[in-house]
Amino acid sequence: MCGIVGYIGHREAYPIILKGLKRLEYRGYDSAGIALFDGKDLKLSKTKGKVADLQERLENEISTSGNLGIGHTRWATHGVPNDVNSHPHYSNSGDLVIIHNGIIENYESLKKELIKRGYTFTSDTDTEVLVNLIEDVMKSDNLKLGKAVQIALNQVVGAYAISVFDKNKPNEIVVARLGSPLAIGVGEDEFFIASDASPFIEYTNNAIYLEDEEMAIVRLGKKVKIRKIKDDSLVAPYIQELQLNLEQIEKGGYEHFMLKEIYEQPNAIKDTYRGRLLASQGIIKMSGIDDHLEKFTNADRIIVVACGTSWHAGLVSEYIFEDLARIPVEVEYASEFRYRNPIITENDVVIAISQSGETADTLAAIKLAKSKGAFVFGVCNVVGSSIARETHAGAYTHAGPEIGVASTKAFTTQITVLTLIALKLAKIKGTISNSDYHYQLQELELIPEKVVEALKADDHIKKIADTYKSVSNFLYLGRGYNFPVALEGALKLKEISYIHAEGYPAAEMKHGPIALIDENMPIVVIATKKGHYEKVVSNIQEIKSRKGKIIGIVTEGDVQVKELADHVIEIPETLESLSPLLTTIPLQLLSYYIAVLLDKNVDQPRNLAKSVTVE
Ligand code: AGP
Ligand code: GLU
Repeated sequence: MCGIVGYIGHREAYPIILKGLKRLEYRGYDSAGIALFDGKDLKLSKTKGKVADLQERLENEISTSGNLGIGHTRWATHGVPNDVNSHPHYSNSGDLVIIHNGIIENYESLKKELIKRGYTFTSDTDTEVLVNLIEDVMKSDNLKLGKAVQIALNQVVGAYAISVFDKNKPNEIVVARLGSPLAIGVGEDEFFIASDASPFIEYTNNAIYLEDEEMAIVRLGKKVKIRKIKDDSLVAPYIQELQLNLEQIEKGGYEHFMLKEIYEQPNAIKDTYRGRLLASQGIIKMSGIDDHLEKFTNADRIIVVACGTSWHAGLVSEYIFEDLARIPVEVEYASEFRYRNPIITENDVVIAISQSGETADTLAAIKLAKSKGAFVFGVCNVVGSSIARETHAGAYTHAGPEIGVASTKAFTTQITVLTLIALKLAKIKGTISNSDYHYQLQELELIPEKVVEALKADDHIKKIADTYKSVSNFLYLGRGYNFPVALEGALKLKEISYIHAEGYPAAEMKHGPIALIDENMPIVVIATKKGHYEKVVSNIQEIKSRKGKIIGIVTEGDVQVKELADHVIEIPETLESLSPLLTTIPLQLLSYYIAVLLDKNVDQPRNLAKSVTVE
């Protein structure tokens, strides 16, 4: 993981890079560093910690002038997060300086070779090996930086997005990508380099996204020159106009991105179905499905591959697809799927779900499924991301940038897309009655306003959070469509408050977890009116008789659970199949407020990163 930023042009590079790194901190934040060149001197400052720590240190350590620079916010893979292992890294001569996102898998053998050739290393990183390999190639054959980078990368096994420059040639930056994203912002007489477009959005709307196995020479006064790393062929740069705006990537008055993103859900869900759901006409338009309809209607089964929250959305979709469209579904952790020689045929449709579109495990699962002949469909949020490009077809969630590491609006919009697909297929296959189909569409259209209603429990949830903020364990229970929501609620709490939490199907509790229940255990139970209500009420009774504390997520006007539970949080009534879109909301707010009350770093929880681009 990690975020990379670079600038070359007529402006001061430092403020652009610093601000860019802050925007990219969601990608990693255990250490950070910047290298600047002011026309005379190459200056470098780096430190363990966040970009704010770097800023404090750097401004005391070096002068910040210079129109060329690169910066990095790291999520360590090789070597602990400390000052020395932070990027940028110098080559032995001190001429080259590099930042890198990814893993050089064969770094050990390369390092041994370089040591034999007299190179020395100060860090434990794979990155320092790469910069010295480039230098070695450059010096041995008296090559220019671009060529040396190309030759060196052909010796490398692994994944990378790199940005490197030579202080003796300060009019260019060389960049390359394989497996990790890299965008080039094209301005007037200036260029920006970044892991995504957010660092340069206020300067230019024009961006080039490098494809895998491409490298580019970004040189002042010239057009960007892109080549294939393997065969040296030239690629015509495709300059794309960005739709992103600054407001979308800033906090807009909220204390945290996570809270902003929770509150964005009514609009995000609307954006997801806009132009696709024509409820009054009974139409669902999705070109990604229409163009490959037979693949879906003839599919023996759907296999969903994803990780984390996206995997939970996949589990919800299992209920939707099987229930509505009568297609058998298997939901797999991408990381397990790829390593267990799965049985996949050409009659399988694989759906890969990923907010970032960069998750390495999911990407690898897609490649495996493709190699076995399956048709692969992507559900991604980030437009132009690696997964969006690697899949045969797909549907974007259009949730807008999700910056908080804990995924919120990505989850509900993924469920929205998957529901649209399932309903569309159900209609075509005739597995849903006409009246049910129309009712589902109308109800789906109403979900955004019902999310607005659900969000009104905010203050009430804050008080519940205050009551339970000091406990060490939480249980989350749900049944049917809401079992995956219980898993998701538990994951949210773990991620940002570091409180241990588990999700279970409510009825499974009596097969083990019930032993955990005593008067100190809060149990969040999703007990909405539609969907096994009476059964869940019985499960609540079982908890009550063991003195557990019950926080019930109930349908407006509920009486029975209200009498039993210690607290209830009401959500509007909807169809069982759509209920995850509402039951999720209070669980997101509960984990958010517990983490805030515990003074945790909500947007950047420890040990995590927004997109996990390593295995
Ligand atoms: C969610 O809160 C997590 N941070 C994490 O589980 C995430 O959902 C997972 O890493 C998958 O990411 P993706 O959707 O970008 O592929
Ligand atoms: N492998 C490099 C390191 O550990 C880069 C890590 C990353 O991409 O997060 O420093």
